[in-house]
Amino acid sequence: MLSEKIRFGLIGCGAVAAKHIEAIGRLRNSTILAVADKDRCRVQEAANRVSADMYLDYRFILDRPDIDAVIIATPSGLHAKMTLESLDAGKHVLVEKPMAMTVEDADLMIEMSGSKKKALGVVYHNRFNQASQILKTAVESGKLGRLIWGSASVRWYRPQKYYSESGWRGTEAMDGGVLMNQAIHHIDLLLWLMGDVDQLSAFRATLGHDIEAEDTAVASLRFRSGALGSIDATTCAYPENLEETLTIIGTQGSVVMGGKKLDSFRFWNVPSVPMTPVLEDRPNWYGHYEVLRDFTESLLHGRAPSVDGTEGRKSLALVRWIYQQTPIMRFPRGGDSLCKPTN
Ligand SMILES: NC(=O)c1ccc[n+]([C@@H]2O[C@H](COP(=O)([O-])OP(=O)(O)OC[C@H]3O[C@@H](n4cnc5c(N)ncnc54)[C@H](O)[C@@H]3O)[C@@H](O)[C@H]2O)c1
Repeated sequence: MLSEKIRFGLIGCGAVAAKHIEAIGRLRNSTILAVADKDRCRVQEAANRVSADMYLDYRFILDRPDIDAVIIATPSGLHAKMTLESLDAGKHVLVEKPMAMTVEDADLMIEMSGSKKKALGVVYHNRFNQASQILKTAVESGKLGRLIWGSASVRWYRPQKYYSESGWRGTEAMDGGVLMNQAIHHIDLLLWLMGDVDQLSAFRATLGHDIEAEDTAVASLRFRSGALGSIDATTCAYPENLEETLTIIGTQGSVVMGGKKLDSFRFWNVPSVPMTPVLEDRPNWYGHYEVLRDFTESLLHGRAPSVDGTEGRKSLALVRWIYQQTPIMRFPRGGDSLCKPTN
């Protein structure tokens, strides 16, 4: 039986956990009772910040009957195991993206969420941006006509130290590359707006960093609807993030979404629908606030979260499909680095 407030446990107190903490602090109907991280400094800092109990071993959170739901914000390669353990312990789960590293694990998570009757939500906060919501409404209303083209471009920069200073980033087992870590947000939006893909061809390469996984990729897509499209993504856009753009073209109209947080329209031409001004450049926790608001309300009102396991699985499945089809091409060692690895 849920109380009026959802009582969360937070597992993983690194960079993204700060956004969950900010978000929950602003929600009247949720609170964090306990935090866990294997790093003593991080867990102590998070516990102090939210006045919660702290554990070095997350399994203590799972043993607590007063905790309704857990947020899993650990390295991606741990998501499946921790989610399955949490569901098995009777907790609802909100897991960071990607929900798992393999489709098989995602399927186990979805299955256990069903059998245990516990919610499984996945953090894809860009779906909650005002611009994304307006575009989704326009696509669903049919006002863009028949969809012809859908593409996502992610031209970002991550210095070598982003990878080197953490043991898991850029590894195939715990993170994946630019598709699995960064562009998966944009792939999620693309599939949400355009529907499933039924054919693809792709290249991926490690061109500017000393990492196992790809830092650059490009894919041509054919959607089941017959529309075509593409994904291009890199973390080599030295010296700074250049753009993240989603382009949707229909027989009656076209939209280009962009902005620093994919939260504004660079172009809008939809017949009989004037461009609505959108609130841009919200604080960096804002997307997580919307995800947590939706997740909390879904638990209190007994509905599924807007982005549940089945939705979260779609972008993971597309990335895995690209990974299975395409070996990683590597920049020859000893050559000039595009991304200045010592930065
Ligand atoms: N939705 C978003 O916008 C967004 C943004 C950043 C990261 N993420 C995702 O969030 C996850 C975490 O990313 P991050 O940038 O916060 O990473 P991070 O390395 O900063 O934090 C991960 C934390 O997990 C802890 N941890 C590792 N193993 C653990 C274990 N066995 N038990 C308890 N704690 C453990 C680490 O000590 C660390 O504090 C990743 O899956 C990433 O893809 C999502």
